[in-house]
Amino acid sequence: MENKRKALIIGATGLVGNELLHRLLDCDVYDKVTALVRRPTGISDSKLHEKVIDFDEMGLVVDEFAVDDVFCCLGTTIKKAGSQEAFRKVDYDYPLKAAELAKSKGASQYLVVSAVGADPTTKVFYSRVKGELESALIKLQFDSLHLMHPSLLLGDRDEFRTAEALSGYLSPVVSPLLRGRLAKFRPIQAEDVAAAMLQIAADGERGTNIYEWPELQEAARRRA
Ligand SMILES: NC(=O)c1ccc[n+]([C@@H]2O[C@H](COP(=O)([O-])OP(=O)(O)OC[C@H]3O[C@@H](n4cnc5c(N)ncnc54)[C@H](OP(=O)(O)O)[C@@H]3O)[C@@H](O)[C@H]2O)c1
Repeated sequence: MENKRKALIIGATGLVGNELLHRLLDCDVYDKVTALVRRPTGISDSKLHEKVIDFDEMGLVVDEFAVDDVFCCLGTTIKKAGSQEAFRKVDYDYPLKAAELAKSKGASQYLVVSAVGADPTTKVFYSRVKGELESALIKLQFDSLHLMHPSLLLGDRDEFRTAEALSGYLSPVVSPLLRGRLAKFRPIQAEDVAAAMLQIAADGERGTNIYEWPELQEAARRRA
């Protein structure tokens, strides 16, 4: 019988991450799923190995990174973090540190939720941080690096975010107008991003790959 893989997820209590965690636990690709969290997920599952950690001290749990595939769904907003520096810690420092630890332990695939427009040279702070993270991840030379580039995420979250709420209402009207090269800006359901990530990991395409709205939808459809 084919050996099953081991996954590690960070950001498992978030909108995309929580959806993805359920999918990782329910699928037959993985026999062990490690979730590093700063607060418990509340999920109990025989496949789940959950560890509450201080993300500033990720190096202390380096052995947890001895897995095949790492899924990074971490993120914050500048408003929530309180400063650009605090935002950068969550959206750059932690994902990169996790990638370095995973690489040192032999992980072959790293999948991360970045954002459409990620670009290390842009003046837009958010997109620049995402782009800088991608550049740093590419240098680590994973067998497979998968960069998710969603536009606005749709889904039910506890916290109210004005832009997301507005785009949720407008999405049925706006999305069909975003065609061709603009299709990448279509809002996307967080559950579709999660489904796509699982499918992409299962596919195991090598090299560095970027997934915008059309590719995310295509992969999510294959997982459905
Ligand atoms: N929202 C959008 O429209 C949008 C669009 C494009 C790209 N993205 C990107 O997509 C990714 C996922 O977004 P999302 O909306 O699913 O995220 P989310 O719901 O805000 O979840 C973020 C996750 O990161 C964790 N986290 C935040 N700050 C942390 C810290 N200081 N230490 C440890 N963990 C921390 C959260 O843990 P807690 O639950 O403990 O807070 C949660 O698990 C993010 O990188 C985001 O930038 C978002």
